Amino acid sequence: MIAAAGSGERLGAGGPKAFVQLGGRPMLAWSLVALDGATSVQAVVVAAPPGAEDRVAEVAEAAGVEADVVPGGEHRSQSVANALEHVDTELVVVHDAARPLVAPELIDEVVRRLEHDKDVTGVIAAAPVTDTIKEASRSRRVLRTPERERMWAVQTPQAFRTEPLRDAIDSHPDQLGTVTDDAMLVERAGGEVLIHAASPENLKVTTPLDLRIAEMVLAERRG
Ligand code: CTP
Ligand code: MG
Repeated sequence: MIAAAGSGERLGAGGPKAFVQLGGRPMLAWSLVALDGATSVQAVVVAAPPGAEDRVAEVAEAAGVEADVVPGGEHRSQSVANALEHVDTELVVVHDAARPLVAPELIDEVVRRLEHDKDVTGVIAAAPVTDTIKEASRSRRVLRTPERERMWAVQTPQAFRTEPLRDAIDSHPDQLGTVTDDAMLVERAGGEVLIHAASPENLKVTTPLDLRIAEMVLAERRG
């Protein structure tokens, strides 16, 4: 499933990020094509910005990808929960429309690893952190410097066993506003989550700078 229901405030393009042009097509189209190209993916569900379901369906059709479209929610986890209602496979892979540079191979890798490791509830893509990370108080007093070698910048795709993911989301309705990835809820519910090392090139388009970098990477890929 693709979480594409955000409003794109920080990009400031005047509308949802999913529809912002990147490399000649709406950003969402890149993730749709990547999921479609992943051999482990059987069906695609997209959580659309509420009221823009038809527009999402048009993007999917133009990209030649068959997808179910559902309205997203106020928070990302609610969008994921809405999409999960339309998932009937044992495993599900969650991807953000904001990561258009994802490779189909990465999607397959997280799904296959989950398939093979029966004790694990989730496998998530992440890149090693290159900056030193500080934990600080609200008043920005440094509290702690975690060992950098153990820090990972988490991405999507994230593959899960569908039922435990559903349960984890359903059991914390009050926390959905503060949750920044789905694995967090699974971890809190006691599920084991594995990191799958991924390239930092699978970047998240959050700000105008990210969009410029994504354009460059796509231009480079085109040769
Ligand atoms: N998302 C979603 N439903 C929401 C909020 C976010 O499906 N209610 C999706 C976004 O579409 C995006 C992903 O979650 O693909 C990651 O969110 P983020 O990068 O924060 O996107 P936006 O919320 O659109 O951006 P901003 O926070 O700057 O408004
Ligand atoms: Mg957001």
